[in-house]
Parts: sequence; C-alpha cells; structure tokens
Amino acid sequence: MLKNYIFDICKCHANWKPEDFIEKTIQEIKDKIGNKKAISALSGGVDSSLATILASKAIGKNVNAVFVDHGFMREGEVDFVKEVFKELDVKLTLVNAKKRFLKKLRGIRDPEKKRTIIGSEFIAVFEEVARNIGAEYLIQGTIYSDRIESGIRNYSKKIKTHHNVAGIPSKIEFKGIVEPLKDLYKDEVRKIAETLELPQKIVWRQPFPGPGLAVRVTCEVTEEKVNLVRRADRIVEEEIDKSRVKRSLWQYFAVLIDTKSTGVRGDSRAYGYTVVIRAVESKEAMTASFAKIPYDILEKISTRITNELSSVTRVVFDITHKPPATIEWE
Ligand code: XMP
Repeated sequence: MLKNYIFDICKCHANWKPEDFIEKTIQEIKDKIGNKKAISALSGGVDSSLATILASKAIGKNVNAVFVDHGFMREGEVDFVKEVFKELDVKLTLVNAKKRFLKKLRGIRDPEKKRTIIGSEFIAVFEEVARNIGAEYLIQGTIYSDRIESGIRNYSKKIKTHHNVAGIPSKIEFKGIVEPLKDLYKDEVRKIAETLELPQKIVWRQPFPGPGLAVRVTCEVTEEKVNLVRRADRIVEEEIDKSRVKRSLWQYFAVLIDTKSTGVRGDSRAYGYTVVIRAVESKEAMTASFAKIPYDILEKISTRITNELSSVTRVVFDITHKPPATIEWE
C-alpha cells in the first residue's frame, strides 16, 4: 500500500544515494563556511565523526575537531577518540572540562535543567576554543531524531532537550551552526559513514548521549555516582559484547537510580545503590523494544556488579518499551 502511494500515486523515485548526499553536503558546507575557520563538536560517536569528516572534506585544514571531556564519558573514551582520530588526519583538540561541568550540576535534580546546563556549558567551552583559534562556525552531528524529540516541528511535542538542539542557549558567539546530518536518521548516517569508509568501530558504535553518564545517574550528579555507573556500564558492555545478543541490540548500558535498598553483605545489613540494566532493540531510536536478554547473561552481569561494586545492593532489568518509556532514564 505504501509502495503504491509513494511510487504510483505521488510519482516519487527511489533515487537517494549516499554518494549524492556526500557530494551535495560537501558543497553546501563549502558554500556556507567558505575560507573561514570552524570547529567541529566531536563526541566519538558516528554522527559527530561523520559530520567532522564531511567538514574536513569540504574545508580541509580549516576545521578543528574539539572533544570536550565533561567527566561523564564511558571508561576509555578519551583514548578511543585519540586513537581513531590519529588515523583520520583531522586536527583534534581535547579539552578537560570535568571540574566545571560537575560544579555547574551541583544540586540540580531536574533532568531537563541538567540537559540545558550541559548544552550551555558545551557551547561555552566551544566558544572559548573558537576564540583562541579564530573559528567562526560550529559544526555539529545533530541528526533528525534529536531534533524531533527536542520539539522542532509544529506537530512534534518536546520529549527531552537534546543537548545539541534545544539545549543550546539563544545567544551564541558563533556566526553559524552547521549541521550536515540534520535530516538523517541513524541508519542513513551509518550508510554514509560506510560509504566514506569510516572505521567500523565508529560506524557500528552504540549511540551514547551527549550529556553522557550525567543522564544515567538520576537526580543529582556526584563524582561518586558517576564513577559507580561508569564501572557498572563497563561490566554490562563487557558481558554483552562477549555474547551473541550484541548484534541485535541498539544500546545496552547501566543506570544508577536514586533509590537505595536494603541488602545483606556477609552477616550484616547493607543499604546500597540500585543499578538498572537497560538494553533495547531499535532501528532509529524513535521507538524501541526492551531486549530479551538471556537470563544467564543477566545473572552474570548482576553477580559481577554486586561483587565488584560493594556499594550496590540491587540490580534490576528494565522491561519497558519506548513508548511509553524513553531509552535513557532522563
Ligand atoms: P531517548 O532517551 O530519547 O533517546 O529515547 C533516543 C536516542 O538519543 C540518545 N540521546 C541523546 N543523544 N544528545 C545526544 O546526542 C542528547 O541529549 C541525547 N539524549 C538521548 C539516546 O542515547 C538514544 O540513542
């Protein structure tokens, strides 16, 4: 029925090709930025990496990738980005902004406030770097689903403030923000990244939200909680990466929630943190189903988390689809 409507009634043609998109986008970036300088907000995921590579093909050495370590990264993230971008011949600046992000989030419990603060702080760091190197444009790897969820259309309500869309302050120093992937879904981004032969470890990386572990610690973010969720996340990733289910999953990670619960350690009472395991299947993140992870894998993860993290007394598995839940907890 859809085929009939699209091709026979509307007379559309199936002529979208990654090569055409690449050529058109490179030209658009050239037209917009000309011989000015730009920085590219790099997170290490496929979207921002592809946006950076397209920009580098368009304006060459005039683009400088900037990776901000806000302290809410997964384990090993900074080294991963350094290693990958060494191979890709793009200028990379790493900024350690851990202290300032944590300070800004002190006492903040509301998820939307957290997201707006993180969005503004990212821009503040980017503006500082841009001032130093004389860059006038900011390149971001925003994709269509980020914009839809942030409520960009008349008929799409805001679900959450994606840090790189509605989290951006209304007044910025940049002459312009360039978002070459803003009309693509993730599967299209991956197709184009494959065409440009980006490393497989980037193309097929599970998505990671810009605000990072700060939205995987519910309520107030503290260094202790971020460190805990980072270690739990590593365990989830290690156990799932070893298994067959990995291939069918869109994302799999740990969340540290604000509910403590009673447990037993040895012969004593313990009152500790609760970690949630979240694993979902999805095509483009607009909808998702919780993954039916085999019990033996869940058991291994739960045992490792409670053995290796003594302040965690309970591990639970999230069995909610999107909708009504979202993939992330905040
Ligand atoms: P939700 O939680 O809304 O997430 O179902 C959909 C997809 O988007 C990712 N996500 C983000 N990505 N900035 C990003 O770059 C953000 O602020 C953000 N919030 C969520 C999430 O991990 C999932 O893949």
